[in-house]
Amino acid sequence: MASFLNCTLFTFILLIPTFIGNSDGAFSEELSENILMNRMEKTTHLHFYLHDIVSGNDPSAVRIAGTSDTTGFGATFIMDDALTEGPNPTSRLIGRAQGLYSLAAQHDTALLMVVNYAFIGGKYNGSSISILGRNPVLNDAREMPIVGGCGLFRLARGYAVAHSISFDRKMGDATVEYNVYVQHY
Ligand SMILES: *[C@@H]1O[C@H](CO)[C@@H](O)[C@H](O)[C@H]1NC(C)=O
Repeated sequence: MASFLNCTLFTFILLIPTFIGNSDGAFSEELSENILMNRMEKTTHLHFYLHDIVSGNDPSAVRIAGTSDTTGFGATFIMDDALTEGPNPTSRLIGRAQGLYSLAAQHDTALLMVVNYAFIGGKYNGSSISILGRNPVLNDAREMPIVGGCGLFRLARGYAVAHSISFDRKMGDATVEYNVYVQHY
């Protein structure tokens, strides 16, 4: 939450000069200074594990809408899943995946993912990336687009590849390995 707030504050601060610089009270103005501040674009590779816990009395993902059948078309969950450095849930927490996923396919198994990956690890504390994509969960590797980011990941674009390393069919809990390739400034 704190890191997300940071991100929001950061965006707000970024916007202030746009309004201060306005002498005629106009709604918008073109800035001569490039928003990228002439920094070089770089590519970062992130590697972490996501833990999606739907079972037990402290789940990290809960169903909020859809049919009563949790595996049915339209079932929608909100998640606040831990992201860790290693595959073990007790390994170092580096962030959280906060967002929504829905069963959005009628003829196969694919999720619609609308998720912010908010990091707390090292220099990425307070930075986040946003994923909006299709996640065919039964496939070995699922590629999803990164549509933006905040903080160190400002103006991010790239892709994430998700690979499930464990899935408890009975309980529904899953551990997913992520390899993220992100271009940002
Ligand atoms: C991340 O930043 C917040 C302040 O924004 C701080 O309270 C917190 O301790 C930091 N976390 C880590 C792991 O450095």
